[in-house]
Amino acid sequence: MTVLVTGGAGFIGANFIYYLLKNRPADRVICLDKLTYAGNLETLAAAEPLPNFKFVRADISNREEVYKIFEEYRPAVVVNFAAESHVDRSIEEPELFLKTNIIGTGILMDAARKFGAERYHQVSTDEVYGDLPLDRPDLFFTEETPIHTSSPYSASKASADLLVSAYIRTYQFPATISRCSNNYGPYHFPEKLIPLMIINALNDKKLPVYGAGANVRDWLYVEDHCAAIDLILRKGKVGEIYNIGGHNERTNLEVVKTILKILGKSEDLIEFVTDRKGHDLRYAIDPTKIKNELGWTPKTKFDDGIKKTVAWYLDNKSWWEKIISGEYKDYYAKMYGNR
Ligand code: NAD
Ligand code: TYD
Repeated sequence: MTVLVTGGAGFIGANFIYYLLKNRPADRVICLDKLTYAGNLETLAAAEPLPNFKFVRADISNREEVYKIFEEYRPAVVVNFAAESHVDRSIEEPELFLKTNIIGTGILMDAARKFGAERYHQVSTDEVYGDLPLDRPDLFFTEETPIHTSSPYSASKASADLLVSAYIRTYQFPATISRCSNNYGPYHFPEKLIPLMIINALNDKKLPVYGAGANVRDWLYVEDHCAAIDLILRKGKVGEIYNIGGHNERTNLEVVKTILKILGKSEDLIEFVTDRKGHDLRYAIDPTKIKNELGWTPKTKFDDGIKKTVAWYLDNKSWWEKIISGEYKDYYAKMYGNR
């Protein structure tokens, strides 16, 4: 079976490619990626030599490029990870989010229909549900929670979800959608909370915590997310939405302090900075549906996953040192310089 993975040079897509190559060796995996600032071919270096892996550079919002790839490879399954994924960047520059996340999803689905893909999976996010209050720990996002977005990023992801649902209803398009909580693990781009804090701490730089650090995220080790998507592709029901999360809620300050403790660094490195605009307070997934219907449960506990992640960044300095010495430097100065 040929599986087309878009956005496979990014964090979760690359982890998913490695998951497939390891667990589904009979599949042929095609990675379609534009290689934006977040895409990194070095991440796929171990996959490149394999005969059942192929990388093609293309933009999902370019219809001609996408159709050409579908015509050539005729994927049976499409998994769409490709996206602009960072909330802070979406606040600075929303337009690219609309183009990639919404138009790109539409073009991919058109290609899947035109070239007869049997299955399409849209990798969405729990951020489409907006946020939950901090003083109601009894509340969780279910698949029935209304869409209620806060950032241009989450609005673009929600728009894409609505488009996928419309294709399912209108064209009986064989699609599924998953909405996962915050991921962490290897190959996570250092603009996001966990890798940024690990790398800053390693370099004895200040750790910029937004607001009071009281916002809550529900963290899932990336491999557990990959296993859930694989399961949805094989056993999930067409037309369905599945929430993915492992009940691992932590305040940002707790996460940062855990990282400092693992690295043996002082909490004096923490610096409270101006809050994010429209900052979502709490995300928390109710994973009952995927657990009961597909038998998925996460394998990695946060305490183990975060240690493994810190160890990965220690062992793979050359991967992130190249990133932080490039255009990321300008990004960092712009976002954190006067914060
Ligand atoms: P990422 O930013 O690390 O990677 C995105 C990848 O998509 C990059 O390789 C980039 O080059 C590629 N890309 C961007 N625009 C493209 C385009 N127009 N055409 C082709 N490729 C393009 O993102 P990530 O964290 O790996 O997230 C992957 C997906 O999972 C996204 O759809 C995101 O919304 C979703 N998601 C992420 C999280 C999380 O915690 N990171 C949680 C839930 C859902
Ligand atoms: P992030 O990794 O950007 O993921 P998301 O906003 O999509 O959940 O941020 C996770 C949390 O960490 C979020 O509440 C914002 C906060 N944060 C900081 O406090 N400082 C930072 O430098 C970053 C990047 C995020």
